[in-house]
Amino acid sequence: MADLRIAGFAQGRAKVTILFDGRPVDALEGESIAAALWAAGIRRLRTAPNNGGARGPFCMMGLCQECVVEIDGQVVEACRRTVSDGLKIVSRP
Ligand code: FES
Repeated sequence: MADLRIAGFAQGRAKVTILFDGRPVDALEGESIAAALWAAGIRRLRTAPNNGGARGPFCMMGLCQECVVEIDGQVVEACRRTVSDGLKIVSRP
């Protein structure tokens, strides 16, 4: 899969590993959870409660709420939280 990150973003950044629903995902220090998951080809972060449809990052700036996930039992916007090594992220049902 092609690297979808902005050219040069990786330069000088440490690689970290996050866990999404238990699956290890490579990420780069300083990027958002949503960006890291997107770059890894993971688009579905939650399920729409009304029709069961897939939902994932849309605005990437904290407005749409489509990217919400759970971290330590807290609901957070994946586009507004940066990655850290070993961070455990759970998709929303
Ligand atoms: S992508 Fe819209 S709030 Fe995160």
